[in-house]
Amino acid sequence: MNPFDYTFPVRVHFGAGTLKNALAAELPRYGKNVLLAYGGGSIKRTGLYDALKKQLSEAGKAVFDFGGIMSNPTYAKVQEGARLAKEHNIDFILAVGGGSVIDCCKVVSVQAKADKDIWTLEYDEKGKPGAGIPFGAIVTASGTGAEMNNGAVITNEERQQKSPLWGSFADFAILDVEMMLTLPRKQVISGAFDTLSHAMETYLGSPRTPNLADEMGESVMRAVIRNLRIVVQNEKDVEARSELAWASAMAENGMLKLGKVTDFQAHMIEHQLGALTDCNHGAGLAVIHPALYRHLAPAAPAQFARLATEVFGVDATGKTEEDLALAMPEALAAFIEEIGMPTKLGELGITDDVILRQTADTCILTPGCAKKLSRDEIYEILQECK
Ligand code: NZQ
Ligand code: ZN
Repeated sequence: MNPFDYTFPVRVHFGAGTLKNALAAELPRYGKNVLLAYGGGSIKRTGLYDALKKQLSEAGKAVFDFGGIMSNPTYAKVQEGARLAKEHNIDFILAVGGGSVIDCCKVVSVQAKADKDIWTLEYDEKGKPGAGIPFGAIVTASGTGAEMNNGAVITNEERQQKSPLWGSFADFAILDVEMMLTLPRKQVISGAFDTLSHAMETYLGSPRTPNLADEMGESVMRAVIRNLRIVVQNEKDVEARSELAWASAMAENGMLKLGKVTDFQAHMIEHQLGALTDCNHGAGLAVIHPALYRHLAPAAPAQFARLATEVFGVDATGKTEEDLALAMPEALAAFIEEIGMPTKLGELGITDDVILRQTADTCILTPGCAKKLSRDEIYEILQECK
């Protein structure tokens, strides 16, 4: 195993119906001025916005709105949030939403305290941000696990890059599944698929032998597949949604990654595609994964074979390791079809070869990938996704 240090900074409050009490317990820890951050308006439609405003004002807080955080949040939006935070002397940021709102707030938190532009600091100067404004997350859409880590994925429109940025960890995260039940069915499924993708991409990194982290990852993947099958029938099943929310948190809280160099090549391709087309994250991954894995499986047959049997239930009888490895991408593709996710880029409205070439030429190449992919091979993979 590779050496590692482990601490977990996020307090988690988990459970259907726990939001009000959990927030009441947290609020006294923070100062008066609160930046209430949210997305495009779902929290107003569901009544959550009014409930939170009331609870915050009863707790004696002065609330400043930072709304309109879009899916695939932009760096310009981060800067808007940081300006607001400085202008109003914000003591605490409350991020209410899915991965997009939470990621945006991670970076707002550090940018508001930093003298330098965070993108320049992290990418051009290879620096790390200092301490930020404390923030808490109320998760209304599970899947990304963004509430459990300090990596944000931000689209820098000027640079045409959707890339990871380090920001703050949330001080606390509230995962109350009742707040997630209004999420549209399509987003429930694509969020859960994102979790499966995180666990697969972690598993398929190195070292490439089974180990404790990988066996925990297998459990997470099996739980996601089992519960996805339930929510495809009934997306309001609270038990299944709870399992998916916890699996989402488990996949991105770092536990499955301990001692490993992860892969995440599918993510890096999807992020760049997202930067250029604004496509839905989980849906983009669903299209890319099988094609990518057809290219990777021969390079890591033991891992792919084990995934096929232990997670996707492929019958090993009469099959060689190589057969099983090649069966994994097909089992994954069949599962994607079964849960009704897109299987072709055309379904996401992406047909332009120029965009595919640009994605292949500009995506990050990951060190943990089973095979050293060339830009041309990534382009070939994207062609196979058409
Ligand atoms: O914006 P509003 O109106 O709130 O609507 C949102 C949005 O349209 C809606 N929604 C959220 N909660 C809802 C709801 N609608 C009804 N009821 C609710 N309770 O759902 C839509 C999608 O929300 P979004 O936050 O964009 O989705 P998701 O959670 O999938 O986050 C995607 C972003 O996270 C990044 C992705 O790249 C993408 O930018 N990721 C972050 C990761 C991380 N930090 O660890 C890991 C992931 O791999 C991922 O890259
Ligand atoms: Zn993801």
